[in-house]
Amino acid sequence: MAGSESKQENQGLQEHRVFAPPAEFVASATISGMDAYNALCAEAEADYEGFWARLAREHLDWHKPFTQTLDESQAPFYKWFADGLLNVSYNCLDRNVLNGNAEKTAIIFEADDGQVTRANYRELLERTSKFANGLKARGIKKGDRVIIYMSMSIEGVAAMQACARIGATHSVVFGGFSAKSLQERIIDAGAVAVITADEQLRGGKHLPLKSIVDEALALGGCESVANVIVYKRTGGNIAFNEGRDVWLHDLVDGQSAECEPEWVDAEHPLFILYTSGSTGTPKGVQHASGGFLLWAALTMKWTFDIKPSDVFWCTADIGWVTGHSYIAYGPLAVGATEVVFEGVPTYPNAGRFWDTIAKHKVNIFYTAPTAIRSLIKAADVDPTVHPKNYDLSSLRLLGTVGEPINPEAWMWYYNNVGGARCPVVDTFWQTETGGHMITPLPGATPMVPGSCTLPLPGIMTAIVDEAGHDVPNGQGGILVVKRPWPSMIRTIWNNPERFKAGYFPDELGGRMYLAGDGAIRNKETGYFTITGRIDDVLNVSGHRMGTMEIESALVANPMVAEAAVVGRPDETTGESICAFVVLKQARPTGEDAKRIALELRNWVAKEIGPIAKPKEIRFGDNLPKTRSGKIMRRLLRVLAKGETITQDISTLENPAILEQLKDSN
Ligand code: WTA
Repeated sequence: MAGSESKQENQGLQEHRVFAPPAEFVASATISGMDAYNALCAEAEADYEGFWARLAREHLDWHKPFTQTLDESQAPFYKWFADGLLNVSYNCLDRNVLNGNAEKTAIIFEADDGQVTRANYRELLERTSKFANGLKARGIKKGDRVIIYMSMSIEGVAAMQACARIGATHSVVFGGFSAKSLQERIIDAGAVAVITADEQLRGGKHLPLKSIVDEALALGGCESVANVIVYKRTGGNIAFNEGRDVWLHDLVDGQSAECEPEWVDAEHPLFILYTSGSTGTPKGVQHASGGFLLWAALTMKWTFDIKPSDVFWCTADIGWVTGHSYIAYGPLAVGATEVVFEGVPTYPNAGRFWDTIAKHKVNIFYTAPTAIRSLIKAADVDPTVHPKNYDLSSLRLLGTVGEPINPEAWMWYYNNVGGARCPVVDTFWQTETGGHMITPLPGATPMVPGSCTLPLPGIMTAIVDEAGHDVPNGQGGILVVKRPWPSMIRTIWNNPERFKAGYFPDELGGRMYLAGDGAIRNKETGYFTITGRIDDVLNVSGHRMGTMEIESALVANPMVAEAAVVGRPDETTGESICAFVVLKQARPTGEDAKRIALELRNWVAKEIGPIAKPKEIRFGDNLPKTRSGKIMRRLLRVLAKGETITQDISTLENPAILEQLKDSN
């Protein structure tokens, strides 16, 4: 668990600025004032199951009501609302159509080139139902796994909703992952179908999707895939495997616009989403239908204070959990209007976010600190893309997610984007938690830049030491959740043992959820500040990467004998990847080193995806190791930062190597 202390330095633990929520906001907020927040926390304390049962009844429509709220008999494999029946797509679509919102815009699709298309709730329900009937016509049924490898589009959301409608479990794979990563996920999930697009458009460029699916399937082991459904986005030239491949427009052609939802029990797996852990291959985080949807809907109301007239925009991709909870499900479950954005923040220029907010009169905007930091830089270089040049008066609430936000970036966001008028919710959560865990409430919590403040009502977070004992405020430790909550991970697909050992370790007593992050609470306020991962997971631009995954990719290259990967702080991307590599051939220098580093970076992009490319590669004759041969990563972390080693190196067998690895090539 090294690294937790070193990461604390830049986290603004000394931050003293406090921003009270604006009075008008408090007046109309769903959770209005700290008394209201405290009352909800007290309700959860007093009757934990009663609290969640009430919320689940109030916020979801059940086909058959549940009688048992929480089943702990097989802990840590918890079950919530298990004998209740519902359908997620019914709750997101039919429910709004029946509630008089049929003609309300559900999705405003902002394409890469700025073209806009809309779908109201009635249309989205019809498209989803046709899609669902098409899937059924191809033999896809409840319990089957379907991979979605698609660009941001209304069709992408409809694909997820269609799977939910028929009870198929989807697994969305981010469109930036390589054929090999896609193949691994297809095999692990045992998918029967892949839904994709011919190509995707990002920043004016056509990027392949379907051809990568072809490549993945050709790598072998994917015999379970009998169907590849292709949405025509660009009309680009692609290969077609008759029999296996079908165009989406042909699949839905002639299908009925009505599809009776498949009523599933609340524990039915809604989706599997692969994410990086500290060891081994990515793990398939499995989420349940009822608990996940409850939290997606409820946090839309609590954290985002969503109102019927709001236009909500979450800039994430559906390939990540944020795009599941706050694009594909949460906003629709509460009948909101949301923007779905295909492009990138810097195209046609770095004012794209601000321009899009003004164009669609966005009220609630949710993005990642890494995007904010890069747009700050861009506005420094080119003042015409500074947010002050755009009419952002529609905004009333801002949010961030994915990584710690440094107080300077928070202040810039608050002042320049929110006009010092909009609360900023710094939401801490994870793929495994299904939705927000620790976050300010915009109409209640006084905000402190760089702190995610306090847990949501019913979320029993705490900070403990390595033996599971509570640590006092002001002392850093390990972030845990002491009670199960409805939207928590249910298991790791195909690997319940890894689930148990990784998230409910015996050392902590086997009943506390281990988040994998370090945290500290402020002595006076009890506010939480996340100090970064305590395992070998890196967070680059808000994307989770396992150091082991990148190391395995590097050593799979025939030139490489050994590799060690560490993260180092980066001004824009939060962390960046630095790899130390020993080649089978002699250590390269000069132009040779540059050429091989470039080759290896491209190799990693091909093995995992461009997001995993090391920013820097340094070559050595060896790596710093203990006498027993263990790589001393803590020393590599220091070297990667360009700092001098002041730590104890008495266990290091080959001290001379430090000199060699100290400088960039
Ligand atoms: C980090 C993204 C600080 C954290 C929703 C966590 C954060 C990991 C924050 C999960 C935040 C996320 N402040 N750190 N507000 N939000 N993180 O699974 O290290 O992609 O464990 O989920 O991101 O990343 P994941």
